Amino acid sequence: VDRYLELMHPMLARRTMRAEVVAVRSSAAGSLTLTLRPTRQWRGFAAGQFVRIGVVIDGVRHTRCYSPIDSEHRRDGRFELTVRAHDGGLVSQYLHRHARPGLVVSLEPADGDFRLPAVRPDNVVLISGGSGITPVLSMLRTLVDEGFPGRVAFLHYAAEPARVPHRDVIDEAARRTSVRAAFGYTRHPGGELDGHFDLAHLDTVAPWHRDSEIYVCGPASLREAVRAGCARVHSEEFTLELPRSTTATGETTFAASGRTAANTGASLLEQAEGAGLSPEHGCRMGICFSCTSLKRCGTVRNLRTGELDDEPDKQIQLCINAAEGDVTIDI
Ligand SMILES: Cc1cc2nc3c(=O)[nH]c(=O)nc-3n(C[C@H](O)[C@H](O)[C@H](O)COP(=O)(O)OP(=O)(O)OC[C@H]3O[C@@H](n4cnc5c(N)ncnc54)[C@H](O)[C@@H]3O)c2cc1C
Ligand code: FES
Repeated sequence: VDRYLELMHPMLARRTMRAEVVAVRSSAAGSLTLTLRPTRQWRGFAAGQFVRIGVVIDGVRHTRCYSPIDSEHRRDGRFELTVRAHDGGLVSQYLHRHARPGLVVSLEPADGDFRLPAVRPDNVVLISGGSGITPVLSMLRTLVDEGFPGRVAFLHYAAEPARVPHRDVIDEAARRTSVRAAFGYTRHPGGELDGHFDLAHLDTVAPWHRDSEIYVCGPASLREAVRAGCARVHSEEFTLELPRSTTATGETTFAASGRTAANTGASLLEQAEGAGLSPEHGCRMGICFSCTSLKRCGTVRNLRTGELDDEPDKQIQLCINAAEGDVTIDI
């Protein structure tokens, strides 16, 4: 039935979840905010989670993860995504060029463990860098909506003030509530926080931080600095550098397309791309499962855990597994 309904309008599909872009605005230099109206299958999200959206570019669907920026209590059933334009990035550049009201994207249910727990902590520190602001902004807005009785601090690091999306929302939260917000600029003088993250920043902005849960999203250097100085840290990354396997031998056969590639220790996703294939993928680090494909036979090494798996006819994530010896994948 969906195929017929879609001919009338893609938003009429009954089984496939989709979302229509109903508004587009610039939220900071290099950042775009889309307001999305999902179809009826949408069940909402918990503050901090991400969704996968898909767009068709030159006839091929590409999916990527984005974290809604709203309070999880937003009542009109819509949600907003803020997308930073990556130099040379396929989907973010496409959205910056082509997103306008009426664009329909595919949508997967919200997912992810980086979220506020159901029983809220006593105190919360939110730290972000660059585009990592999105999930912690959702946490901030959710806590404000709930009239959270504990202490909340929000620290954000950006290259310069013009690159901070939704600064007005954060300033308003700080004005109306006891939220303490502070900003640091790495390429601009004048931020309250001097340069990159330093534990002294937390001691100044949130001297009570040792009695709080800390949520951080941003580049590896920020996450590592926070982890080095604090306990009870929950973190999320948008990109992850995975190591290569150093013991790779043999050849991978991509059975459905009849291509082969000598194993290099890189992920099977990279090997497939190197062989001229374009498997679907989203996060490229093992969290969204959009690259899951059937391994017919052979041994693969999980690049995140180092574990080997030789079970035949098994679904594996191409982005975090590398071939060890001859492997056959059903793509
Ligand atoms: C859980 C999660 C939540 C996220 N939330 C957000 C969010 O709220 N907002 C947001 O803006 N982003 C978010 N992201 C990041 C987002 O999913 C995309 O990764 C981002 O938009 C880039 O996608 P792209 O298609 O534009 O870039 P891609 O085409 O995937 O490229 C990414 C980068 O790699 C480089 N690159 C691409 N191909 C190659 C190649 N062959 N060789 C070398 N370099 C290459 C590009 O230049 C680019 O800089 C999130 C990611 C995750 C995992
Ligand atoms: S691309 Fe997300 S799990 Fe592989």
